[in-house]
Amino acid sequence: MAHILAIESSCDDTSAAVISNGQISSNCVAGQQIHEQYGGVVPELASRAHHENIIPVVHAALEKAGLSLQQLDAIAVTAGPGLMGSLLVGTSFAKGLALALNKPLLAVNHMHAHIMAHFIDDPKPRFPFLCLTVSGGHTQLVWMRDYFDFEIVGQTIDDAAGEAFDKAAKMLGLPYPGGPLIDKYAATGNPAAFKFTEPNMPGFDYSFSGLKTGILYFLQKKTQENPNFIAENRSDLCASIQATIIRILLHKAEAAMLQYGLTRLAIAGGVSANSGLRKALAHLAESRGWELFVPEFQYCTDNAGMIAMAAHLQYEKGMFAKQSLVPDPRLPLSAAHEV
Ligand code: KG4
Ligand code: ZN
Repeated sequence: MAHILAIESSCDDTSAAVISNGQISSNCVAGQQIHEQYGGVVPELASRAHHENIIPVVHAALEKAGLSLQQLDAIAVTAGPGLMGSLLVGTSFAKGLALALNKPLLAVNHMHAHIMAHFIDDPKPRFPFLCLTVSGGHTQLVWMRDYFDFEIVGQTIDDAAGEAFDKAAKMLGLPYPGGPLIDKYAATGNPAAFKFTEPNMPGFDYSFSGLKTGILYFLQKKTQENPNFIAENRSDLCASIQATIIRILLHKAEAAMLQYGLTRLAIAGGVSANSGLRKALAHLAESRGWELFVPEFQYCTDNAGMIAMAAHLQYEKGMFAKQSLVPDPRLPLSAAHEV
């Protein structure tokens, strides 16, 4: 039985998890509230908080799994993409621990791990499937042929879907991260109250920067006419913005599913926690007769459980990293198995 400790510190969550023979036995996350007041993640503050949180989080994960450091067979860590300062805290810690325990090191690609989260619980998708990965930093449509055999068929050329949610929320005066708050207000709003222009992108690529500008100009105009416009229409604005982002996401996902003749659709990343998106996807899958896969909530937003799952698959294949590992803030998905 192989026990692997996995560490995730790519952005603003410090997380540690333990996986034993493919079964997650703990997944502990320490979030960072400090960024709320700044309207976004402040990289220096994120690395400092990772420093403070990493040892307690690792201890909690080991304790919950009922294991000691000596019982571990490998140490896994996120090698990128992410914030350099944040990644350095996790990789330095993992490398030090692997060296001290004389255990192998596994370097995991964060975006690959978001997709591998689908293999933690049942029902697991069979290959091939299409994965829509939507997070704060990425928006990708990935054609998964096998665990380590995949192709990005579309991605955003500017902002990520999570960024679109967060930036729109900021314009509405909501704190960071605004995505979950838009979700909450949207529940009582009218999604057809306001219309925002959708981008006209070729192929399966996404673009969200035009929508961001469109919302900004719209709000400027409306608040000039009525200074209380946002406060008076918050739920309708959230519902309309959310519905637009969802339409943009689904339109390309549906087209890619048809183009590649796929029948299994999966969603991953923080934005997959959005209740409107989940509902719309369920509706789309049902009307097309497709199978839909959505990971459990704790494995959607950043967490070490998904890193542990990817690490387990790499361990089985003997895909180990060197002690000379250097994190890469722009690590491409194509290099998921080369780090
Ligand atoms: O995957 P994730 O936790 O971190 C990154 O790798 O970026 O994704 C974070 C993003 C943020 O933009 C956050 O606003 C968004 O996921 N998010 C949501 C919801 N929950 C998290 N967006 C919309 N609705 C939600 N319920
Ligand atoms: Zn993520």
